[in-house]
This record gives sequence, C-alpha cells and structure tokens, in this order.
Amino acid sequence: MDLLSIDSLSDDQIETILDEGERWFEAARSGSPGDEGLRGKLVFNLFNENSTRTLMSFATAARRLGAGVVTLPVERSSVKKGETLEDTVRTLGAMRPDALVIRHAENGAAHIVAEIVSCPVINAGDGTNEHPTQALLDALTIRSHFGRIEGLTVAICGDIRHSRVAHSNAKLLPRLGATVRLAGPPDLMPEDLPQSSIDEAVEGADVVMMLRVQRERLERELGDAPGEYLQRYGLTAKRLARAASHAMVMHPGPINRGIEIEDAIADDPQRSLIMRQVEYGVAVRMACLDLLISSS
Ligand code: CP
Repeated sequence: MDLLSIDSLSDDQIETILDEGERWFEAARSGSPGDEGLRGKLVFNLFNENSTRTLMSFATAARRLGAGVVTLPVERSSVKKGETLEDTVRTLGAMRPDALVIRHAENGAAHIVAEIVSCPVINAGDGTNEHPTQALLDALTIRSHFGRIEGLTVAICGDIRHSRVAHSNAKLLPRLGATVRLAGPPDLMPEDLPQSSIDEAVEGADVVMMLRVQRERLERELGDAPGEYLQRYGLTAKRLARAASHAMVMHPGPINRGIEIEDAIADDPQRSLIMRQVEYGVAVRMACLDLLISSS
C-alpha cells in the first residue's frame, strides 16, 4: 500500500490514521512518545526539495516507532551528477527499505517512484499536486480543537494555485463533512475555480488556513509594494474579525512573516494552531508509517 494522494485512502483508513494519530499525540504529551512496533524496519527519506517540518517529523515518527531512518543528502548525492529519479529510486529500492518517503518538485514524482520500488511509498509533497500527510495532520488538528470536523467551514486562503496542501485538504476535509472555501489573488488561483474574495471566504469561517506565497514557483514576481499583499490578501486582525468569534488560524508553514499573515496573529496562542499542527505532524506520520509498513 502506498500513500500518494488522499484518494489512495479509504474512509476507514483515514479514520484509523486520525484515531491512531490522536493516540500518539496523547502518548507524547504524557511522556511515552513511542514504542518498538517498527523495530528492525528501515525508512528512507528522499527529499529533492527543501523541508524542515515534513523531513524532521517523518524521521522523528520512524524513530519513535523503533525504526531506523536513512536520509539521502541530495545535495551531496549522485542526483547532482545527473542521475535520473528513476535510477536513484531503483538504487535505493535495491537496498530494501521498508518504506520510502519522497518529496519532489515534479507533480506525479511519487507515483513514478511507487511504480519502481516494492516497498510502501509516501508522498511528502510532489510539486503543486498533493501533500496528503499535511492534510491528515491538518484534519486531526481541527478535529482535536473543535471535537469534530463535520459541519465546520474552513477558509483556505492565498496561493491556491501552487499549494499541494490546499489540493489535498480540498479533497480530505469535505470527505470528513467540512465545507471548504478557497480564495486567493486572481494570479494565484487555478483557472478552473471560481474567483471569490478573501473577505468573502473568511466571513463566518470556523478555521482560516493561510498559505505561503510560493515565490520559488512564481513565473513572475507579484510586484506588490511591501505590505500590499498583506493588506489586500493576507490575514490581518481586521480581516480575521470577519470570521466566527471562535475561529482558529492555521498555516502549514513555513511562514512568510508579514506577507500572508500578521506576526501577532501567527504567534497568538489563543487564535493560532500553527505549532499544534507541527506537533500533530509527528503523531500523524507515526500512524501513517505504522499503517503502511504493518500492512505491507
Ligand atoms: N508544511 C511543510 O510541508 O513544511 P516543510 O516544507 O518545512 O516540510
């Protein structure tokens, strides 16, 4: 079994991951962050794009389950000599890992890898396509805070066009009964989606999830003067006041401070779930590794 997209998961598997993720979160909070369930197993990390949260949380998750972790230092690897993705993963597959976690700039890269290796493959973000474990940890963060997902309205705002996080959440959260509103600057919205303003999306929402402007994927600079993006499209205190009074703020990270979100909101422990998302990231990835490796 691979985890390449939210579509790879059945409803039962999603529920299992969320329930197990909650269990691991509680275990870590009570000082027993792991067990030896994956002792003797080996997880390979292959990250061709930069990462802090996803890379470190998969490594932490694997170790907390007793598995070994090997991360290919891509910058010092034969990738830099021109070796193809296919040859790289064929080589890694021959070393017989029990799971391979891949992040890559190309849409569909994880699917290519899964065709080559025999172990479970987890998509840790492929281009602008999907980032399924981020959506799972986001869902669990919401469920834990509100006690439910069903019936909530989640506004996902910003660079929707380039956001694999938005694409995975737009698949997952409605399956769990939430209403998802997507809004962003016209240049950063997919052409096939209707335009709606950030203010409209935020109005009355239970959750406001802001997205990083992915400058590395922009074909041209936005051209906004400093502070202009924040005022027009970002999350300011004034804009957040349009959401429900109990609304919580999320962001997958990393944050462009002062661009898509005001510092004071990102850092407000009463309104921000951003660090909680990171904490749930480890727990959810423990659940994913356990499910995939145990069932392979
Ligand atoms: N949210 C996320 O994928 O962050 P990293 O790029 O730091 O892994």
